[in-house]
Amino acid sequence: MNRLVVVSNRVPTANAGAPSGGLAVALDGLMEKRGGLWFGWSGAIVAGAGGTTVCVRHDARVDYATIDLTPEEHDRYYNNFANGVLWPLLHTMPELMQFDRRDAEVYRGVNARMAATLQPLLRPSDLVWIHDFHLLPLAACLRGRGVTNPIGFFLHVPFASADVLSAAPEMGNLVRDLLAADLIGFQTANDLANFVVAAEMFAGAERLAGSVLDVAGRRVRLGVFPVEIEPHGFAELAQRMAGSAEAERLRRSLYGQHLILGVERLDPTKGLLQRLSGMRRLLERHPGWVRRATLLQVAALSRKEVGSYRALRVSLDREAGSLNADLAEADWQPLRLVTRAIDRSLAAGYMRMARVGLVTPLRDGMNLVAKEFVAAQAPEDPGVLVLSRFAGAAQQLDGALLINPHDADAMAEALDVALAMPLAERRERWQSMWSAIAERSPLVWGRAFVATLLRATAIAPVPVAVPEMRLRTVGDHGSQAAVSSELVLAEPRRSPALMPVMMPGRV
Ligand code: G6P
Repeated sequence: MNRLVVVSNRVPTANAGAPSGGLAVALDGLMEKRGGLWFGWSGAIVAGAGGTTVCVRHDARVDYATIDLTPEEHDRYYNNFANGVLWPLLHTMPELMQFDRRDAEVYRGVNARMAATLQPLLRPSDLVWIHDFHLLPLAACLRGRGVTNPIGFFLHVPFASADVLSAAPEMGNLVRDLLAADLIGFQTANDLANFVVAAEMFAGAERLAGSVLDVAGRRVRLGVFPVEIEPHGFAELAQRMAGSAEAERLRRSLYGQHLILGVERLDPTKGLLQRLSGMRRLLERHPGWVRRATLLQVAALSRKEVGSYRALRVSLDREAGSLNADLAEADWQPLRLVTRAIDRSLAAGYMRMARVGLVTPLRDGMNLVAKEFVAAQAPEDPGVLVLSRFAGAAQQLDGALLINPHDADAMAEALDVALAMPLAERRERWQSMWSAIAERSPLVWGRAFVATLLRATAIAPVPVAVPEMRLRTVGDHGSQAAVSSELVLAEPRRSPALMPVMMPGRV
């Protein structure tokens, strides 16, 4: 089996556990089962970091190799360019973008440094799988260093229309760089279609039959691979956690009211302000739900150094305050807003207790919370999912009540229908959504991508001797101290010789 080398900005760290977000959920599930090398940022910001020093940690089946970022890199690459330009642009929110050419340069610089650090760790038969918008130029940087391994790229977020993307001067270059990969995967067919137009416009690519692009004589394959959760494991977790002391405390505090639940990061794409408008409208139009339903909104603080996130926090506090002040009674309030992150396991327990899961992003690549809500439900008495039609998950979960999150009245009506929905209809809708996710998993998702990557490249590198590496234990890295090593290469690695061989049958 070819070793899988996953590259992502976020890598789980020994002391902090898995980072939050859909990417971590999917990749954790995949790597835990398949094993391999996981390369990316350590999460540490260290003055004087730089160069190609890498920290290696071994854990069960996975080797984690990470680099630190300098304060300037963290600011310009992560905060300003990835989260301040690419994130809003790819989610079709160009009005939030703040472009600065210097940020784009540092973003490229970090990708180049990651390529320089990763290259010596690669073996000839490795499959390289790059993830998400932080690393759009990485495939081109690796190719520039002579790496000939199959390279796949998967975008976890949406891909906006070329028109919207052209607002950022750097975007054409990034699309051209991305085309250095052999396979580029998207969450939905719409994202793929948008990418085809961008590749034609920015790189002169030509679409051939079956989602293959011709880019100056090279073939680049495109595909749709919706990210999945581990539904059975999550269902068990939810069942167990619904009986936990924390869940019991929440249950008691509700005094028999229906729970409407939202769980996400505090992020401008998640439609949090619109959600509060929908809740307000529900109570204005259907006052019968006063004292009979409460919205618990977990909006975990995230990316706090980015201006649009700070501004959203201020607006959200204001709106939440006025919603409660306007509509609360002495013994009841419509909203509980929590900005601390809660454990994924506790969220699972809360989901099982909720009558309504409210997942209404303005735009979302997939939204795994929607799938988790389905998996968490008790089949004999399931809750109802109210889902934005602009989330990738809406393509699969047609048993949800699909709404436009900009339309407060539509959200209010969907909430009213969901809260009053008879058991038979709840079961029928849940069954259809459960069937859509029950046979899938991060492992199935990963296998489908890797199999397509192997088909796309149709050759596999012949194993050649890997240069000897010396591992040297370095100083204290917090709780990683015992396993951290600084990896020093004994000699620079030459590009592997390639010759066509049969594709391995199992990936
Ligand atoms: C989304 C992105 C991920 C990212 C996650 C959390 O799911 O697709 O790439 O890791 O959000 O965001 P953060 O900025 O904390 O990594």
